[in-house]
Amino acid sequence: MSFDQPTPDLPPEHGNLHVAVIMDGNGRWAKNRGWPRLVGHRKGAERVRELVAACPDLGIRHLTLYAFSTENWKRTTEEVMGLMSLFARYIKREAARMNREGVRMRVIGDRSRLDPKLAGLIDWIEQETAGNDTVHLTVAMNYGGRDELSRATRAIARDVAEGRLAPEDVTEATISDYLDTSFLPDPDLVVRSSGETRVSNFLLWQAAYSEYVFTPVLWPDFTPDTMRTILDKFQARERRFGGVTV
Ligand code: IPE
Ligand code: IPE
Ligand code: MG
Repeated sequence: MSFDQPTPDLPPEHGNLHVAVIMDGNGRWAKNRGWPRLVGHRKGAERVRELVAACPDLGIRHLTLYAFSTENWKRTTEEVMGLMSLFARYIKREAARMNREGVRMRVIGDRSRLDPKLAGLIDWIEQETAGNDTVHLTVAMNYGGRDELSRATRAIARDVAEGRLAPEDVTEATISDYLDTSFLPDPDLVVRSSGETRVSNFLLWQAAYSEYVFTPVLWPDFTPDTMRTILDKFQARERRFGGVTV
């Protein structure tokens, strides 16, 4: 194709993609430089800010980021506290910019184990940005797919026991509605940085038919251009959803 031809129509999903990211590799990035792990997390948070700002250009409407897993409590108190305060700082510092850029922020995961002050801050930013619709940023905080499914199952069981729901009405759609992600479409694409090829308990139900891309880039080196390259690769794939295409 020569450059003077009009660009072909973009695929229908362009501009409306849901991309979920397992942001991994902050610790190794810092270690490679002889720095404390938290320096890597801090750099990682800067990458988040850049990526969120680039979403409209990248055609991403929903961006879901794995920030802290239900398994991450196993880390040292110093690292856990550092990650929590980094998250709180991100919310406070980015609130005005999110409103300027039309970013609606929501948080998934079990909030009951978070510090009440942080939980309050999460409630605040969700309300503060509730009117925005350009980019939907969802941050998974104390999130685990199995934990989410367990909480959803308990809620379904409670509603059945109390007569609000009939067992035969528990369909796939019902389950989706009881998950933390009830407000989100399923992800089109799940990206994991740092070269690990695991799911690590992320969006187990929701990613049943998502494409996966694993990149060796460590999260603190992951730029909007890294995402652009990945999206180009994704757009070239054929998603069959169990069917056959001729
Ligand atoms: C960031 O990367 C992911 C979080 C849990 C915040 P890591 O902290 O897991 O970095 P690595 O895997 O040790 O390099
Ligand atoms: C996954 O990364 C969780 C987040 C990115 C928040 P981990 O570094 O915790 O995952 P494992 O331990 O390598 O599976
Ligand atoms: Mg890791």
